[in-house]
Amino acid sequence: MLSNDILLNAAGRFGTPLYVYDEAQINIQYASLKQAFRRSDVKIFYACKALTNVNILKILAQQGSGIDCVSINEVQLALKAGFTADRIIFTPNSVAFDEYLEATALNVNINIDNLSLLEEFGNHFGDGYPVIIRLNPHIMAGGNIKISTGHVDSKFGISIEQVQQIRDVMERTKVSVKGLHIHTGSEIKDLEVFVKGLELVLETTQFFPDLTIIDLGGGFKVPYKPDEVGTDMEALGEKLADAFEAFQQSSGKKFQVWFEPGKYLVSQAGYFLVRANIIKQGPSRTFVGVNSGFNHLIRPMFYDAYHKITNISHTEGELKTYNIVGNICETDTFAWDRELNEVRPNDILLFNNAGAYGFEMSSRFNSRCRPAEVLVSGDAMKLIRRRENLEDILQGVILD
Ligand code: LLP
Repeated sequence: MLSNDILLNAAGRFGTPLYVYDEAQINIQYASLKQAFRRSDVKIFYACKALTNVNILKILAQQGSGIDCVSINEVQLALKAGFTADRIIFTPNSVAFDEYLEATALNVNINIDNLSLLEEFGNHFGDGYPVIIRLNPHIMAGGNIKISTGHVDSKFGISIEQVQQIRDVMERTKVSVKGLHIHTGSEIKDLEVFVKGLELVLETTQFFPDLTIIDLGGGFKVPYKPDEVGTDMEALGEKLADAFEAFQQSSGKKFQVWFEPGKYLVSQAGYFLVRANIIKQGPSRTFVGVNSGFNHLIRPMFYDAYHKITNISHTEGELKTYNIVGNICETDTFAWDRELNEVRPNDILLFNNAGAYGFEMSSRFNSRCRPAEVLVSGDAMKLIRRRENLEDILQGVILD
């Protein structure tokens, strides 16, 4: 965990708003997964949609992680960071066949999530490019509906009830299926969701003779609120190992198990720092207006997500209740009725758990620049993305 002193120092050196990442925490998270899944043949593929700064990707590449990419540009970033093609999975949805062709030219693992593309892929490659298939297991799971992806009404995956249609395509085109994949949602604490998902997938394995991989996706919960607990990884590791061993005993089959965690690997490693611009006393609320907004951290407005906020400039100040708001031209509230040590203009406020889907979902709405990013590695602190400026905003605009 980074101390307030280090964070204040970063804010002083690089200005705010600022994302700061702690390399040690990423390594701790990765090691804890390896430890939890030690009984099974598990490979971790970091779901890099959570945070794609190439410097972060390099940390995970060095740890030996694989990487899960949802766009061809993410694949290119992964290659830049040093991941070899065999350690990259391409898991897009609703993309054109051309994007798959670009990915196959780079030799990465391909995950297909609809029947028509599977057919097109099979017609093109026959059995020459074995694929992973994303199944929709019809399981409702995840922190909220916007991040639930495995239920029957979700756009993701091929319904688990359409296995026969997949078999028909395999027969017609000779496409070879090396893996089955599910991802039911984000922020899943209930271990039974993973166990149930695995059971459903295992039931279908008999229909796929070339199968070597079962990919159980990501979605491990990290604690956002002070009284929350995350997914119990040790317990999950045990449960899954038991299930795989029982299956191996009854069927004689053994699979490699892949996971694609995003949040779990980078959320807690990330800190977001903003400065208080104004304190406004209204008739019913006191507002702290900061030099940022949902253009920089969209999770509270988009998912009603809770991020712990602390006034790290005035930790002994009297506790007061505030609405913490951003500077965007519409409702832009980071936190409602939140207790903070008294906030004065120019105090630095810290948001915890900002590593995943923080900078990555930022935008230039209101023509405000995106924040800078800093990486702390041991005693070293370095800028890994400079703050944007007006020139960045104008770049690409064609003027007469
Ligand atoms: N694998 C697939 C196929 C996914 O779609 C996702 C996330 C992951 C892995 C990683 O899930 P994680 O371990 O990070 O929960 N922006 C939202 C989260 C959306 C997740 C989308 N897919 C948020 O800020 O909560």
